[in-house]
Amino acid sequence: HKPEYGLIGLGTMGAALALNIAEKGNKIAVYNRTTKVTDEFIAASGALRDQLVATASLKDFVAAIQAPRKIILMVPAGPIVDAQIEALVPLLDADDLIIDAGNAHYADTNRRFKEAETAAYNFLGIGVSGGEEGARHGPSIMVGGAQSDWEAVAPVLRAISAKYEDTPCAEHMGAGGAGHYVKMVHNGIEYADMQMIAEAYAVFRDGLGWTSTQVAEAFEQWNTGPLASYLVEISGKVSRATDPVTGKAMLDVILDQAGQKGTGRWTAIEAQMLGVPVPVIEAAVAARNLSAKRDTRIQGAERFGSPLQPLTSDDITPEMLEKALTAGKILCYAQGFEMLDAASRHFEWSLPMSNIARVWREGCIIRSDMLGDMAEALDKSSSQNLIFSAPFCDMLMDCESALRATVLAATKAGIPVPALAAGLSWFDTMRTARTPANMIQAQRDFFGAHGFKRLDDVDAPHGPWAAQ
Ligand code: 6PG
Repeated sequence: HKPEYGLIGLGTMGAALALNIAEKGNKIAVYNRTTKVTDEFIAASGALRDQLVATASLKDFVAAIQAPRKIILMVPAGPIVDAQIEALVPLLDADDLIIDAGNAHYADTNRRFKEAETAAYNFLGIGVSGGEEGARHGPSIMVGGAQSDWEAVAPVLRAISAKYEDTPCAEHMGAGGAGHYVKMVHNGIEYADMQMIAEAYAVFRDGLGWTSTQVAEAFEQWNTGPLASYLVEISGKVSRATDPVTGKAMLDVILDQAGQKGTGRWTAIEAQMLGVPVPVIEAAVAARNLSAKRDTRIQGAERFGSPLQPLTSDDITPEMLEKALTAGKILCYAQGFEMLDAASRHFEWSLPMSNIARVWREGCIIRSDMLGDMAEALDKSSSQNLIFSAPFCDMLMDCESALRATVLAATKAGIPVPALAAGLSWFDTMRTARTPANMIQAQRDFFGAHGFKRLDDVDAPHGPWAAQ
């Protein structure tokens, strides 16, 4: 019999996903623009060879699949997706389903849904997280589109997804671009998690003068506590690794310029569009941008000198840093979920808030133990900011002084900790009943007669300066 599924784009992620689908007992047709890539993929497919149908043209590919077809696109996000859809559509039947599994911008996904409606084919936009390993053995999957289309593919997506205990980490998030939106916020949080770990590393390395091996030990230790997560685990592993070329610590030979494909930046931009503050994520995006400016930084180090003052265990201990990072993580996720809640209302998606946390418990890059507690907290109240929910409220109370001490010590030593500091400032603002925004209002009224509200009942929305 013919396969029901097909996959276009046999790059790292596409190849891994195709093998995952095949391994779960599904035949799958594959196609890649360059046939050589398809040949190599087939040659390396081993025992799964019989499940794969290799095709050398788009026409053969479509013909090889049983209608109604389910065609997964795993091509680079952007115009290539549109070009691929355009080439595919004339070959499809009305009930066929195109599934974009790349890191598309949700607005592109929304547009593609409209185009699909006009051209009469079905469409799903799904966010897939977990890198190559995840795609091959169980990614976390965030689905956007019509309920009926999700149901048509749910058994296979659940089968290939990561499992938390027995629960598949694949869920329908909502209509249209909801899946890709949730994946985008996942990536924004991913940037922030990574940045905060990097900031802890900086305090160890530049403040306490620790070696990479010592840092590895701290991360390994942290991975057994409240910070237990994939990113802390791999941070321990990369800290422990030795460069086979020079014999030095691997970290010590890697250039300090972070790359980015843009999804973290999208999160910061979209948060601004909604008027939701996500300063930890914004700081993480800015830190990547700053890291890229290496020449300027080197110039700065020469011109201004480094303020670096060594720290001692009187200033900071690994236990304090662990608590600081725990607080930072809670604050970052509180912001991320607040953004998702706002987006859910703005786009009328009814995002399943606690299930988003559940889908992220396994398979994806930000998977962590803490997400289980977040799911429970969101179950109780999905619109209340996480910092007010148990157990996070108490955890913050417990970790707050360590976060403050860490930001203080790092600042004293001249070590930038932008994400942790942004988290702390956000938290301090969230507990400030009276902010200085009355000054902003007065200034606005002074130069533009914008008016203000008063604390009392007096009906006088302008200051005396209007008459001056
Ligand atoms: C995932 C990741 C992945 C992302 C990479 C690189 O969830 O598997 O988020 O989708 O593309 O992490 O992203 P940057 O190049 O922007 O760091």
